[in-house]
Amino acid sequence: MKATKLGSHIRNEFPIFQNNKKIEDGQTKPFSYLDSAVSAQKHESVIKAMTHHLEYDYGSVHRGAYGVSIRSSQMYENTRIKVANFIGKSVKPEQIVYTRGATESLNILASGIGEEFLNENSRIVIPAAEHHANLIPWQQVALRKNCELAYISFEGKSGDKLKLNLSEAKKLITKNTKVVSLAHVGNVLGQINPIHEIIEIAKKVDALVILDCAQSMTCIDEDLFALGADAIAFSPHKIYGPSGIGVLAMSKELMERLPPFTFGGAMISDVTLEGSQWTSGPAKFEAGTPPITETVGLGAAIDWVAKVGKQNIHDHAAALASEFLNKIQEIQDIEVFSPSTGQETIISFRHKKIHAHDLATILDADNIAMRAGHHCAWPLIRFLGVDALVRCSFAAYSDKDDIEIALAAIKKASNIT
Ligand SMILES: Cc1ncc(COP(=O)(O)O)c(C=O)c1O
Repeated sequence: MKATKLGSHIRNEFPIFQNNKKIEDGQTKPFSYLDSAVSAQKHESVIKAMTHHLEYDYGSVHRGAYGVSIRSSQMYENTRIKVANFIGKSVKPEQIVYTRGATESLNILASGIGEEFLNENSRIVIPAAEHHANLIPWQQVALRKNCELAYISFEGKSGDKLKLNLSEAKKLITKNTKVVSLAHVGNVLGQINPIHEIIEIAKKVDALVILDCAQSMTCIDEDLFALGADAIAFSPHKIYGPSGIGVLAMSKELMERLPPFTFGGAMISDVTLEGSQWTSGPAKFEAGTPPITETVGLGAAIDWVAKVGKQNIHDHAAALASEFLNKIQEIQDIEVFSPSTGQETIISFRHKKIHAHDLATILDADNIAMRAGHHCAWPLIRFLGVDALVRCSFAAYSDKDDIEIALAAIKKASNIT
C-alpha cells in the first residue's frame, strides 16, 4: 500500500462533514461519506468562489456590454483555459466545450459521430460493462444509422480475474470500426481499463477513440489526447466541483466535423428566415444560457485538485480502498467483486444474506453513505449474476475512521442476520 501524502486537515476543509454529524443518545456519529463515485463533496474554496460570484459578479456571458457580464464572461473563458491545462499539456482551450454533464457530453459525441461518420456498414465498439451514459447513446445511434454495435466482454467473474477481454477487443476492432468508446475507470468495480492497448488497436484501423473519464479525471494524471484519444467526457461534480455542468474535450478536427446537438442562441453565425449557419469552435455546442456560476466553481475545484495533486489524491484514496478491501473480505458472507491491484478507489461487494439496499439502509443509521443498486450498469450487474451491489468509494477527504466505522457497521449487520 502506498503511503498517503494527504493531511487530515483536508477533511475539515469540506463543510459537509461538520454539518452532518449525527447525535444519538448523547453519542456523536461522524458523517462517513463513502459515495464519492456518485458525486464528490465540495471543497470550501468551491463554495466560496460560487457564492462570491453570485454576490458580486453574476451576469450572463458573452451578451452584455456592462461590468458584471464582462467579468462573468472573463471567468467563464478563464475556466476553459484551466480545464484545458488540467486535461493535459497538449490540450488547448478551444477544444473544451461546456455541457450539462458527462452524460450530455457522451450524447453529443454519439449523436454527432452517428451523423458524420456512420452508415449501415459501420461498427461501433464499446465494452459491455459501460455506464448507461456510454451505452444507451450508442445503442440509439446504432438503431438510427442501422449499423452494428459490438460489445467487448469481461473475462472472469470477480476480483483480479475480472478484466476487459483484450483478445476479443482485437477481433472486434477491425477496419469497419469507426468508433471505440470506453470508460477509463469503471464506475462499478473501479477497474482501470487498458486504454493504452485499446487506443493502439483502434488507431491501427483509424477508429475514433472516446474516453469516458467521469471516474478517472479526479485522480489519474495522463494526457489522454497525447495518447491518441479523440474526445473525452467528464463531470465536474465528481472532481469536488458543482453539478449542472459537464466537460467535453475534442480534437479540433472532430469539433469541426461534428454537427451541433442543441440549437438556439449563441451557437450561430447567421440566422435568416430561410436558414441558419453555425459558429465554429466550442460555441457551436453551447446553445442557450450556459452554466455560468458553475464554471466559476469548476475553476476553483481544478485549482484545488491541482494544488493537492491528482496523484496524491489517487494514492490516498487507493490506499484506503485497498485497506477496506483486505479487511472486508475477512467478514463472513461478504463477496467482493472489485479487483485488488491496489490502484482502485472504488470497491463493490455484496452480503450474501443481506440485500444491498437493506445493507445501505442499515449503514445510513450509523451515518454512513454508500450506494446500493445497479449503478447505472445493468448489463454488467447481470453478467456478475447479482441484482445489486453495495459500492464503497474513496476520495481526498476519506480517512481510516471511515473504514473502521463502515466495517464495524457491516459486522454489526452481519450479526443480526
Ligand atoms: C463512468 C461514468 N460515466 C458517465 C457518468 C455520467 O455522469 P453524469 O451523471 O455526471 O452525467 C457517470 C456517473 O456516475 C459515470 O460514473
